[in-house]
Amino acid sequence: MFTILLFAGVVIVAYIFRCFVVIGKKCTSKVKLHGKTVIVTGSNTGIGKTTAIDLAKRGARVILACRSKQRGEAALQEIKRESGSNQVVFMQLDLGSLKSVRSFAETFLKSEPRLDILINNAGVLMHGRTEDGFELMFGVNHLGHFLLTNLLLERLKECGPSRIVNVSSLAQNFGKIDFNCLNSHKALRLGTSFTQMFQIYSDSKLCNVLFTYELAKRLQGTNVTCYSLHPGSIKTEVLKDINPFVQMLLTPISSFFIKNTTQGCQTTLHCALQKGIEHLSGRYFSNCTVKEVRAKAKDDAAPKKLWEMSEKFCQL
Ligand SMILES: NC(=O)c1ccc[n+]([C@@H]2O[C@H](COP(=O)([O-])OP(=O)(O)OC[C@H]3O[C@@H](n4cnc5c(N)ncnc54)[C@H](OP(=O)(O)O)[C@@H]3O)[C@@H](O)[C@H]2O)c1
Ligand SMILES: *[C@@H]1O[C@H](CO)[C@@H](O)[C@H](O)[C@H]1NC(C)=O
Ligand SMILES: *[C@@H]1O[C@H](CO)[C@@H](O)[C@H](O)[C@H]1NC(C)=O
Ligand SMILES: *[C@@H]1O[C@H](CO)[C@@H](O)[C@H](O)[C@H]1NC(C)=O
Ligand SMILES: *[C@@H]1O[C@H](CO)[C@@H](O)[C@H](O)[C@H]1NC(C)=O
Repeated sequence: MFTILLFAGVVIVAYIFRCFVVIGKKCTSKVKLHGKTVIVTGSNTGIGKTTAIDLAKRGARVILACRSKQRGEAALQEIKRESGSNQVVFMQLDLGSLKSVRSFAETFLKSEPRLDILINNAGVLMHGRTEDGFELMFGVNHLGHFLLTNLLLERLKECGPSRIVNVSSLAQNFGKIDFNCLNSHKALRLGTSFTQMFQIYSDSKLCNVLFTYELAKRLQGTNVTCYSLHPGSIKTEVLKDINPFVQMLLTPISSFFIKNTTQGCQTTLHCALQKGIEHLSGRYFSNCTVKEVRAKAKDDAAPKKLWEMSEKFCQL
């Protein structure tokens, strides 16, 4: 009897823990987006896709900026069906190629008159190099989005009040930027082991936070605000490139502790839509709430230095 009660107790506590701590808050904004245009990068799967569905349901014209034509067009059909909107468009964008970023921006600026919300969501967790020779996670998670954001900034300013949202990660807490390594090797750090992969991922996610901070400063006096965020731990394809054995070990644990993609896009939606958070521009969010970051992510020198180095890398 006691064992059963104890077991029931543990289950209830675990359930409450899951509801409140894992799942977290929901975006409560009821904002409609008719006549507004939104770009979501990496929206063919994962939280990018559920974000795109939600925004399309609110009436926005949604641009799916994805690298694979085949995967992007398959998602396009699904997003149209799920949202009941046909204001959804696929445009090819490979963030691992500065040339592709430029050509995406050119096509977009020529064909679309507005841009109200830019959601920099795409991200990778794997080793490699981009077309331009940058370490892959730095190149895709940071540099590609840096160039994209800069090329679209004028249009965002013209359409203000507008927003930029950067999907970072809790992992940014473990990040560090080694400017010397970046300068000489086009990489945040060298090394190809499993743990180094997570370390570089964390560094690249710290870049997102630093940039949001620097960007907010540069956007003062405009009607453009920007936010970075941790979406939570979500069951997506982000781990698809890691060891299948580790994936198998993680699956039972993850199905309990991990959010699904609807739950996982709530903080992104909050940052994109919630009225009255404009004074928090440049800040980092988690669980639909603004959070403090380490002093390292706030000091003035690093964000500025990273900005300048990124400008040089992109030849801006
Ligand atoms: N899942 C989590 O627990 C978690 C936690 C913290 C932060 N995040 C962040 O949340 C964001 C979304 O991740 P997710 O979990 O939804 O991952 P996901 O399911 O792997 O989706 C990532 C998306 O990014 C795209 N992408 C990758 N490389 C690209 C490139 N070079 N150019 C354009 N698009 C590219 C992918 O396209 P393909 O389909 O073509 O690969 C895919 O659409 C990422 O920034 C990730 O770092 C996730
Ligand atoms: C999210 O916020 C809610 C409400 O403020 C809180 O109860 C919950 O513990 C938070 N969850 C996390 C993971 O911080
Ligand atoms: C998002 O991150 C990219 C790359 O780190 C950066 O260039 C851009 O300014 C950031 N935007 C916001 C809103 O944080
Ligand atoms: C910002 O938007 C407000 C209200 O829409 C407008 O009055 C103001 O002129 C805009 N400011 C800039 C710098 O565009
Ligand atoms: C996620 O879970 C919630 C609650 O169980 C459910 O309403 C929602 O449809 C799920 N979303 C996905 C994409 O499975």
